[in-house]
Amino acid sequence: MCGITGYVGQGDAVPIALANLKRLEYRGYDSSGVAYPLADRVHVHKAVGKIANLERSINGGMHNLTSNVAVAHTRWATHGRPNEANAHPHCDCTGRIAVVHNGIVENYAELRSELQEAGHIFNSETDTEVIAHLIEAALPSVSPTSEEFVQACRIALKKVSGSFAVGIVSALIPDSLFVSRKDSPLVIGLGEEENFLASDIPAVMSFTRKVIVLEDGDCALITSKSVRIFDLDGNPLNRSILDVTWDDQSAEKGGFDHFMLKEINEEPRTVRDTLRGRITEDSRVVLPDVNFTSEQWNRIRRISIVACGTAYHAGLVGKRLLEKTLKRPVDATVASEFRYSDPLVDEETLVLLISQSGETADTLAAMREARRKRAATLAIVNVVGSTLAREADAVLYTQAGPEIGVASTKAYLAQLTALSLLSIYLSQDHGLAEEERIKMISALRVLPDQVNDILSQCDQIHDLALRLRDHNCFFYLGRGYDYAASMEAALKMKEISYIHAEAYAAGEMKHGPLALVEPSVAVIGFCTQPHTNEKMISNLKEVKAREGFVVALLREDVPAPDCADAVISVPVTLEPFMPILSMVPMQLLAYYVAKEKGCSIDQPRNLAKSVTVE
Ligand code: G6P
Repeated sequence: MCGITGYVGQGDAVPIALANLKRLEYRGYDSSGVAYPLADRVHVHKAVGKIANLERSINGGMHNLTSNVAVAHTRWATHGRPNEANAHPHCDCTGRIAVVHNGIVENYAELRSELQEAGHIFNSETDTEVIAHLIEAALPSVSPTSEEFVQACRIALKKVSGSFAVGIVSALIPDSLFVSRKDSPLVIGLGEEENFLASDIPAVMSFTRKVIVLEDGDCALITSKSVRIFDLDGNPLNRSILDVTWDDQSAEKGGFDHFMLKEINEEPRTVRDTLRGRITEDSRVVLPDVNFTSEQWNRIRRISIVACGTAYHAGLVGKRLLEKTLKRPVDATVASEFRYSDPLVDEETLVLLISQSGETADTLAAMREARRKRAATLAIVNVVGSTLAREADAVLYTQAGPEIGVASTKAYLAQLTALSLLSIYLSQDHGLAEEERIKMISALRVLPDQVNDILSQCDQIHDLALRLRDHNCFFYLGRGYDYAASMEAALKMKEISYIHAEAYAAGEMKHGPLALVEPSVAVIGFCTQPHTNEKMISNLKEVKAREGFVVALLREDVPAPDCADAVISVPVTLEPFMPILSMVPMQLLAYYVAKEKGCSIDQPRNLAKSVTVE
């Protein structure tokens, strides 16, 4: 999720690497840095904020030495606050190795303490820094050759569990870059007598259109004249060269037409990253970043969830889930209501604030009100170092990465994943049966693949969008978890397609809204909860009888009802997790309807990504 670039060739590597890095800057990173080898060490420059700050600090200093090799990085913080110390690159103790990294080192705490015991000194709070020290530890003590350096990199990376895309420069390989990837993208751009490294293709496009897309487990040693690819055991590999034909604009979007579609396609990775490092081998949940003491947890008698927009809708699912697992009262309130309601919260209440940006004005005000009333505050946030993350008593980070589309998509899935983990965490020693916990963890583990399966049905959803685009009103109906999910589905449709869309508890339809149903009205029925399915189907029959267009959203093990004009089926998971799966086709449906109507999808009229005013 961070941006990586690198250069090796005849040119001045630092300005080239930084120019390429700037092409990724629109995603709103928090800090940046660059490293290059010179004489017997690596030189590193870092700055908080925009890349221009880094350029100023380099040009304003005495650093006018040039190098033909460099790696650069722009950070979206995941471990440790956004500051200079935590900005990449990170070095070993000898200052001969510098690493830039994108991904998450799951076992960093364990590796860090082993390395510290062996005498390594750490300068940051990041997970990345362990990689530099691991390489240092794997080097022979006297005059390592470049081959021994490469071997040390391979040994080090084999110890890392989690995901990584790394670019490494070292005084021990002064004419080369070492790179490797696992579960995090990395490409090599091929030039004439020069080669480039990048986490994302757009970063190299002003220099070359020929790229090698590395695969999981690939390593490469790149010089100005050669690219040698091999696996983590050193066995040589062949990778084909891709000719990139995208224009600049679609390149930023990873080849997708819109950021929204790109971000929906990032959902399998988002769920995987949010789970990463938080599930133990014996199927328990650990939340190392949530620093409440057990005394603080034990004091909690009830939970109040507070958020805005999509995050609030995630909270509505969370309310049901937490209540089910914890057997304690949980409520969910929109922040703008909570803050002025003189809320009934006290020392025994946990106020759970959910926010993608961590900067929404109402959510911040709600948190401050809760703190004033001495409630414990826990923030589920995507942006590390945001105001909410800094001011709440504890933080559980989602790992969605930068979200550019105004309509939130992957952040919702990350929030639901985090809430699922939290509900298991809070109840695993307080009444949640072991068998149930194991069932929940197994279900969470397969969710990323299930989301992927749904994404492969996007053509069918597009076809359905063509049938629905001229309807002038959408109702989204559901019961229980499905009702909560239907609220988010309706929001997606209205905010990007400008079609009136409303969610309703299915049982309430006949208390009013049924009067609106006619052929121009589409009704999407969420039928993913077996114990209410029959009721749902009869509600949909009532709609059909009034000639509404009925779409049934079903688990794939349930036959299509006769009353449905169209069916969307999703893989089966546990009932509380069904909203994670059912939202994916709903986001796609909203996307394709909006696209067919020619709407401004990534920046809908009148809306902002982060609402920092009341
Ligand atoms: C705005 C955005 C929504 C988002 C909401 C809450 O309305 O357009 O996508 O859900 O703010 O934002 P937050 O950053 O607090 O999750």
